Amino acid sequence: MEKPWPSLKIGDLEVPHPIVQGGMGVRISIHGLASAVSLAGGIGVIAAAAIGLEEPDAFRNFSGADERVLRQEIRKARELAGDRPIGVNIMVALTDFTKMVEISIEEGIDIIFSGAGLPMSLPKLARGSKVKLVPIVSSARAAAIITKNWVKKYGRRPDAFVIEGALAGGHLGFSYEELTENRAKPLLTILEETRKVLEPYEEGEPIPLIVGGGIFYGWEVRQALEAGAQGVQMATRFVATHECDAAPAFKEAYLKATEEDVVIIKSPVGMPGRALRNPFIEAMMRGEKRPITCPYLCLKPCVPEKSPYCIALALLLAKKGDVKRGLIFTGARVAEVREIISVPHLFQKLMEEYVRGPESLPTSG
Ligand SMILES: Cc1cc2nc3c(=O)[nH]c(=O)nc-3n(C[C@H](O)[C@H](O)[C@H](O)COP(=O)(O)O)c2cc1C
Repeated sequence: MEKPWPSLKIGDLEVPHPIVQGGMGVRISIHGLASAVSLAGGIGVIAAAAIGLEEPDAFRNFSGADERVLRQEIRKARELAGDRPIGVNIMVALTDFTKMVEISIEEGIDIIFSGAGLPMSLPKLARGSKVKLVPIVSSARAAAIITKNWVKKYGRRPDAFVIEGALAGGHLGFSYEELTENRAKPLLTILEETRKVLEPYEEGEPIPLIVGGGIFYGWEVRQALEAGAQGVQMATRFVATHECDAAPAFKEAYLKATEEDVVIIKSPVGMPGRALRNPFIEAMMRGEKRPITCPYLCLKPCVPEKSPYCIALALLLAKKGDVKRGLIFTGARVAEVREIISVPHLFQKLMEEYVRGPESLPTSG
């Protein structure tokens, strides 16, 4: 099928499909998924969060393991994806944020996506390199603060923004109450507000805006583009692909999930997050604890002595297939996952859905 949608341009980079695969930690999107998405014509993204945690020396040498594995993952992805653009997702809240940015740039990464905090120091760290800098925000206000600060201090704008709405997976940039009482602003309203606050900085050259969180079908990609976005970021649907780096049991958990299984949790690092209900979540909701002596402190807001569990280890456990004792992050639309397919097949489906709308879905009876 000929592609029905416009390419996505971020500065001098251009990819045929306006779709970014959202970075997913811990080790859910590494070289396998990222290279497959980039090869298929989207932007594949490696998640840097605790990327070295499966290494034998992770406990005595956390930063060293993270640095080594990030390099390896970027090189492997590059080898598989050739000259297609590849991105890395580096959360501002990571204690090794600066090092992860430096290594990504040394390894010639094309794009750095950065949320979970305001990435104020990114332009300084990226000075002299061609890497594209794309902050992830959940409000027009955050986009305005970052842009104003970067222009004033470094004379440059962000190369694009990802606007992440309340239906996304993982940690969320909204309050617990906004999420549980359905009071968060709709994604496309935040898009409109963001376009408005960025106008003074655009001078005829709009900053590409990529929206994500709860975008599942191709016709929702169309709605986002028609509302003025240049691209979308999707994660949940990419978990249900053969190429996703998580264990088969993790993907099976997505397949089996119903709407009632999706819960908002208060993560130990202070932010709310969206996850799948399982025995682990139920134990935490009852107030049980899984204390550890933390040798590494991977997230700036974490206070290990006060944390009921180690979020990095809980996420890794789920990624490795222990879906009862691990923490399974997910987006709000997980109940709509029906099959596990290849990444190229997913792009085909999204294009059909984009063109034909809901009629492209097989009827159930
Ligand atoms: C399992 C999982 C892990 C995630 N991990 C990260 C992460 O490490 N950093 C980040 O910025 N966003 C993370 N996210 C958010 C995604 O990158 C993405 O923006 C969001 O999930 C998009 O919404 P969707 O899942 O409805 O498509 C994660 C999401 C999921 C489902």
